[in-house]
Amino acid sequence: MNAIDIKNLNKSYDNGFKALKNINLTVKKGEIFALLGPNGAGKSTLINIICGITKKSNGEVKIFKYDNILQYKLTRSLIGLVPQEIATDSFEKVINTLKFSRGLFNKKPSQDYLDFVLKSLDLYTKKNSQIRTLSGGMKRRVMIAKALSHEPKILFLDEPTAGVDVSLRKTLWRYLNKLKQTGVTIFLTTHYIEEAENLADRIGIINKGKIIIVAKKTDILEKLGTKKLIIKFNKMVNLSKIQKKYDLKKIGKKIIFTYDYKKQNDDVSNLLSELSNNSIKFEDIEIEKSNLEEIFLKLLDK
Ligand SMILES: Nc1ncnc2c1ncn2[C@@H]1O[C@H](COP(=O)(O)OP(=O)(O)O)[C@@H](O)[C@H]1O
Ligand SMILES: [Mg+2]
Repeated sequence: MNAIDIKNLNKSYDNGFKALKNINLTVKKGEIFALLGPNGAGKSTLINIICGITKKSNGEVKIFKYDNILQYKLTRSLIGLVPQEIATDSFEKVINTLKFSRGLFNKKPSQDYLDFVLKSLDLYTKKNSQIRTLSGGMKRRVMIAKALSHEPKILFLDEPTAGVDVSLRKTLWRYLNKLKQTGVTIFLTTHYIEEAENLADRIGIINKGKIIIVAKKTDILEKLGTKKLIIKFNKMVNLSKIQKKYDLKKIGKKIIFTYDYKKQNDDVSNLLSELSNNSIKFEDIEIEKSNLEEIFLKLLDK
């Protein structure tokens, strides 16, 4: 089943700026989906439209089959949102904020559930502290706890680890993975490739309001990645004929042959036997695979 179904979604802001261009996207129930893109790509716009905070221009957004505008109240109750900008100067106690937020969705009070959320986010000992007295990392976790207070089926996080130190980032990743085990679907935006790579089942890449690709991480690598065969020689060699034939790049005593990631490439063995037929001896050989970062930058370049 799809947790989120988006069809032909467009957004123009009042000043005429087109922030989203014909977005089609589905997110499956139970998966962690990462929307990856540089600043200004349209990530927050998309997340805010799905959550019903920003108005779409046209198109359709469904949350578990329900239209997010026609059935706003229902769909909103299925969603928890941790926005990019978080208000954190509250004099309110942590636990009261959670209770209040749960109440807004007409959920019966449940001390047990809220305690469970606080414990799993390592906030239980801060239950009765005022939010403004907490550290930055704790405030972020309070925002997540708040978004979970009404037991939503989908959790949205807009750049959850922007400006967060490495250790807290890893703690949050671990937590989100645990949350996934409980069946909650997770949709997050990020401009950290590493985050998408570590956390997501599937990744969507967005740039200038357009989704460029949606796929499993491994499939993105296979589809768009390249491998490099690097051959090192112990002296300068003359390769002019072979170099042209295989479009080799020569750097000092090294040659580099670039080929498709997914192909079991005959050219590699041909190239090696050709070297040997010409009695050209090499010293060392290695294969380098392109990573998500290289592919990401290549895609944005287009
Ligand atoms: N209220 C607005 N009015 C006009 N343009 C906006 C508004 N909000 C965002 N934008 C523009 O829309 C684009 C996408 O913004 P945003 O969705 O916040 O990107 P991201 O979250 O990927 O950084 C940006 O160019 C931004 O300047
Ligand atoms: Mg944003």
